[in-house]
Amino acid sequence: MLLSVPDVLTAAQVNECRQALESAAWVDGRATAGYQAAPVKDNMQLAEGDPIAKSLGAVIVKALEQSPRFISAALPLKVVPPVFNRYSGGQTYGGHIDGAIRSVAGTAHRVRTDLSATLFLSAPEDYDGGELVLEDSYGTHTIKLPAGHMVLYPSSSVHHVSAVTRGARLASIIWIQSMVREDHQRAMLYNLDTSIQELRAIQSPAILRLMGVYHNLLRHWAET
Ligand code: NI
Repeated sequence: MLLSVPDVLTAAQVNECRQALESAAWVDGRATAGYQAAPVKDNMQLAEGDPIAKSLGAVIVKALEQSPRFISAALPLKVVPPVFNRYSGGQTYGGHIDGAIRSVAGTAHRVRTDLSATLFLSAPEDYDGGELVLEDSYGTHTIKLPAGHMVLYPSSSVHHVSAVTRGARLASIIWIQSMVREDHQRAMLYNLDTSIQELRAIQSPAILRLMGVYHNLLRHWAET
């Protein structure tokens, strides 16, 4: 399931991120690319453990915890500390698939990447190119969202970032291990939950039964 999550960050939080990232210590993104991604990855990123990445990452994780749409769609179990990247001057990230397991720097934690998310931090009018392009069984999707909005997609999708030919594109990338590993099961739970939320004003025993179905499916499928 490909889903946009609008307004993860407020305009003030986006400004805070952009100002902090202006003076950040960007390093070559190839530093953390595996053998598959290294030949096609051409961007800048903040090093693991960078203090700016840590503090902005905490703001983002807190915002995600307060987003009902994110919680309902991702059913998060573990969230990798957000990483930050920057593309300018024709930089691009060619077709790749995100690694299945991320280790969390400085810890023994391993996270299975069920979902990837791109949180856009630059306004679309401030750069040309830089679309996130995803391929799935429904075709090719081209995504470029307003600053503060995020797209959530299965980490199993092949994707690329097209070249940024004017301005700079700042974004944060977040990987999530879900309590529900399978994308199609998460999609059904999300649709059921969203429908129940819309019908909740109706005082009917049928709503209670639907809520029972939701929780019993979640109980059946979730790993914690
Ligand atoms: Ni990727």
